[in-house]
Amino acid sequence: MKVLGMISGTSHDGIDVAIVDFRLDGDTLRGRVLHADSVAYDPALRAHLVATLPPAQLAFADVCELDTGIGQAFAEVAARAIDAAGPVDWICSHGQTVFHWVDGAHALGTLQLGQPAWIAERTGVPVVADVRARDVAAGGHGAPLASLMDVLFLAGLPGHAAALNLGGISNMTVLRHRGGPIAYDIGPSNALIDAAVRRLTDDRQAYDADGRMGAAGTVDAALLAELLAEPYYALPAPRSTGKELFNAGYLDAIVARHPGIAGPDLVATLTMLTARTVAAEVAAHGVDTLVCSGGGCANPTLMGMLRDACTGVDVRLSSEFGAPTDTKEAILFALIGWHTVHGLRGAVPSCTGASGERVLGAILPGRDPVRLPEPLATAPRSLILEAPAR
Ligand SMILES: Nc1ncnc2c1ncn2[C@@H]1O[C@H](COP(=O)(O)OP(=O)(O)O)[C@@H](O)[C@H]1O
Ligand SMILES: [Mg+2]
Repeated sequence: MKVLGMISGTSHDGIDVAIVDFRLDGDTLRGRVLHADSVAYDPALRAHLVATLPPAQLAFADVCELDTGIGQAFAEVAARAIDAAGPVDWICSHGQTVFHWVDGAHALGTLQLGQPAWIAERTGVPVVADVRARDVAAGGHGAPLASLMDVLFLAGLPGHAAALNLGGISNMTVLRHRGGPIAYDIGPSNALIDAAVRRLTDDRQAYDADGRMGAAGTVDAALLAELLAEPYYALPAPRSTGKELFNAGYLDAIVARHPGIAGPDLVATLTMLTARTVAAEVAAHGVDTLVCSGGGCANPTLMGMLRDACTGVDVRLSSEFGAPTDTKEAILFALIGWHTVHGLRGAVPSCTGASGERVLGAILPGRDPVRLPEPLATAPRSLILEAPAR
């Protein structure tokens, strides 16, 4: 079964897409990645999206316009991927998170935009969408959904392996923990670095390209200590967060208390914040192998600080296991779609905090009536990926 997965993460930099041809082989799921790409958002759509994200207040007209614009953008990305790699049986679209509603240790709601009807209309392919909401309705955080893939993907690794995604927010799945695997959002990964770089360059740069600004600065110990005092880091897992907390307003409030800090020093300190918050969790769980993915892997300053902070830990990249660091999450949503259409749970309850296993998402018909395969009685126990032919 060929499934196309798509997501735009909290960095809202663009749409990651992957087409995976899945084949069940005993209790191993084999995935041949036929296509994997990241497509930047159109600048006007991105500007509208950024302008409406928290802490901005917005009107339903904005919500409607963005839902349509993002849905059409996802539809176009899907259509182009299908043109390049051939027809698919299913699409699973995460859309764009615009609000993740968390109150302390509980998620109360989560909202993704990118109306899937545009995708079904453009491609004629049935779509699985709205994948986080059911887990939240079952008492979970609806995040990190990556844990479904991480648990299967790292099943064969010896010792205490964990998977780390360095997106806007950093999240980690720890494989062997008391009572099953756990996963949670650690804190900001690129969210605050990106916000600082935007401020410092008057929006001319959206991120610290190749970690150059951070590399030119010196970590400010007082600022780092204040950043590390954030209560979110002390919450028990499972926990989830987003740009509702770690946004430009959050950064401005802290920087106001440290007037005169030089731009590169601010970026270096925020980069160290990511490395230190991750390293603390890695140490707390006795992780010995850390498999990294996400855009942060392309920041050598961050990766250098992370390696230094994680003494004795084998820090690897997901690409070594067949999932390119920048499209691993698109492969994840293809995997979630595969689970949904086979009637299998798409989230690991011990990871999201849900009260039980749930099949995720809503199904939209494509051109033809929906034909679901025979439900599977048991879920695969491992996932083996073959690298994409780029
Ligand atoms: N070459 C690079 N140098 C430094 N940072 C990068 C680079 N490429 C990507 N990034 C970082 O990765 C982020 C995007 O990562 P991504 O995994 O797509 O996150 P999300 O899932 O939140 O969209 C960018 O906002 C930027 O901070
Ligand atoms: Mg992204």
